[in-house]
Amino acid sequence: MGIFDFFKSDKPNEIADTTLKVDFHSHLLPGIDDGCQTMEDTLENIRELQSQGIEKILTTPHIFKELYPNTPEIIREKLELVRKTLKDNDLQIEIHAAAEYYLDEWFIQNFKNMEILTIKDKYILVETNYMERPHFLQEILFELQISGYKVILAHPERYNYLLSDFRQFEDLFNTGVLFQCNLLSFTGYYSPVIKKAAHYLLKNKMVHMVGSDIHKIKHSKTIGQFKKTKEYKDLMKLNLLNNSL
Ligand SMILES: [Fe+2]
Repeated sequence: MGIFDFFKSDKPNEIADTTLKVDFHSHLLPGIDDGCQTMEDTLENIRELQSQGIEKILTTPHIFKELYPNTPEIIREKLELVRKTLKDNDLQIEIHAAAEYYLDEWFIQNFKNMEILTIKDKYILVETNYMERPHFLQEILFELQISGYKVILAHPERYNYLLSDFRQFEDLFNTGVLFQCNLLSFTGYYSPVIKKAAHYLLKNKMVHMVGSDIHKIKHSKTIGQFKKTKEYKDLMKLNLLNNSL
């Protein structure tokens, strides 16, 4: 094969094996959502991520008015506390915070008038109810996009309402929403059907980025094991956006 044939590959989005250096979906700020509850939990998880080669963490506490009414102020304050603790413990790793926004009526009514914590410039991480497809889903995704946000849908493979017919993934994918799969989904950690959906997305190259979605140390350790598998290597062959964030 000549050098020009290399560029004519029929799999344009496959690149050389790469290492995952950036994790941008996790719940590591202690005590403000259903993730880490103590600073010790936070440190343990960050140490584990670092040992797996992660150099930059963009942690994303839930902002969900009914359950976790976090604000940018609460999140920034906790982030500073975590940074200080990392420094006190000689742990050198870059850490920032954004949020995982729950798409509900409250969010729709308020997002234009509140500060949105984005990832890098205009990436916004969103999630929906797991069981029922929100009737306003297409509209809110479109609204966010025309407001200038690059919308990342957290773990599409975990929404029950998409699992009855995988063709629904294509419809969402074609709206330009970015798909972020959870590493844990590929291991079967959540359920066999979620694993099947994650592999379907991988096979069809519908994974833009991956996230740890770490809430507790069991998640970090399970991801550590997964990183030794062939499936993980297949995933890394996709041109994931992680390291550009
Ligand atoms: Fe999450």
